[in-house]
Amino acid sequence: VLENYEVSMKTGFLMESPLEELPEYFEAWNRLAKEMPDLVEKKMMKVEVLKMPYLDASKLKSRKEIRLAYLQLSIIGAGYVWEDGDAGAPESLPECVAVPWYEISSKLGVQPIISHPAFCLVNYKQLDPDRPLSLDNMKSLYIVPGGDECNWFVIVTCAVELEFVHALQPMLSVLKGGESGNIDMMISGLQKIYKVVKNMQNVLSKMHDNLSADTFYNKIRPFLSGWGGESNPLPDGLIYEGVEDYEPLTMIGGSAAQSAIIQLLDITLGIEHSQDKKDFLEKMRKYMLPIHHKLLKDIDSLPFNIRTIVDESNDDKLREEYNSCLKAVSDLRSYHIQIVTKYIIVSANKRNRNKEFESLAKKGTGGTSLLPFLKDLRKDTQDAVL
Ligand code: HEM
Ligand code: ALA
Repeated sequence: VLENYEVSMKTGFLMESPLEELPEYFEAWNRLAKEMPDLVEKKMMKVEVLKMPYLDASKLKSRKEIRLAYLQLSIIGAGYVWEDGDAGAPESLPECVAVPWYEISSKLGVQPIISHPAFCLVNYKQLDPDRPLSLDNMKSLYIVPGGDECNWFVIVTCAVELEFVHALQPMLSVLKGGESGNIDMMISGLQKIYKVVKNMQNVLSKMHDNLSADTFYNKIRPFLSGWGGESNPLPDGLIYEGVEDYEPLTMIGGSAAQSAIIQLLDITLGIEHSQDKKDFLEKMRKYMLPIHHKLLKDIDSLPFNIRTIVDESNDDKLREEYNSCLKAVSDLRSYHIQIVTKYIIVSANKRNRNKEFESLAKKGTGGTSLLPFLKDLRKDTQDAVL
């Protein structure tokens, strides 16, 4: 069933063996996306983009090509907009990027901005095809500034998605068990989910191995910014020339909050968030592929709720395993809060921080209040304990 939702039993929400390059006709995109970090360093990105030919997106043939083109244009667009810091952010994006980026995004049902479906879900290759996909057998295809450390940021995020693959079958068991009143099936599913969530935390902890807070905060993060909103350097948004009557569009920046995996865990385990947080998580779904969004909706609208079933079962073992899962998700959120503290909060308070990008100091690239928001989500998780 999950294959119908573009979820692979091998790679989960990651696309299986994504393409690295587009055909010859699109060479300008291949090149600019690869060279973006260097061009930004030399302050040549805007100049090069303005010389870029206007390519016809309808010549993209397969879904793999379309998804790669979305990634490439997301990298090119981010370089164009943020090359000169907050102060140098241009009001508009030239047609050669704006039109194909907009068309491809509409076709995919995502937004024309760097996002999780671009920067993570299709942004990896397997180095040695004879060994399984893992952190030491993967490399990102396209990066923003930050070099090898940015590569690491991308592939650790991919690796968390990959770890979640092991939770897919157990999740289905929990739901099936819940529907049919099979307590043993639910228990064994929950036990497996528990282990996977613990492993996800372990994978997340690898972030520290090869990504410094300074590089993340000062070099990488600015290129994941969105546009629009009060404290943003482009308060009205960005004009995509040749698109939507030249009215500025506002977009949220790239964030793993656009990943489906934690939302899927929340829904499956019946973790409820209050309305404001629900609104945010709902907004994130507009940045997912519609087919992944549909999976969340379909599971959300199942006529039964796992938490209620556990509560009404009066089965101590089931309750215990359910609560352990919640504890694991809450611990994962705690660990993620520590990561945010190190990589954002502490860095934002350093005197030698990159002051060209102050607009992101107090907000997540996804636009949240950072810690208060993340702590609220953790509290909801703890409150679901029975
Ligand atoms: C949300 C930062 C890595 C999963 C967020 C938010 C921030 C953040 C600031 C709040 C939303 C926003 O405003 O953007 C970071 C930093 C990371 C990191 C600094 C590493 C340096 C990851 C990874 C994952 C992940 C690897 C796993 C796929 C999530 C999820 C949310 C989130 C699921 C939504 C909140 C929730 O459900 O609890 N992250 N993140 N993050 N992040 Fe991360
Ligand atoms: N969402 C992460 C941030 O705010 C990437 O920095």
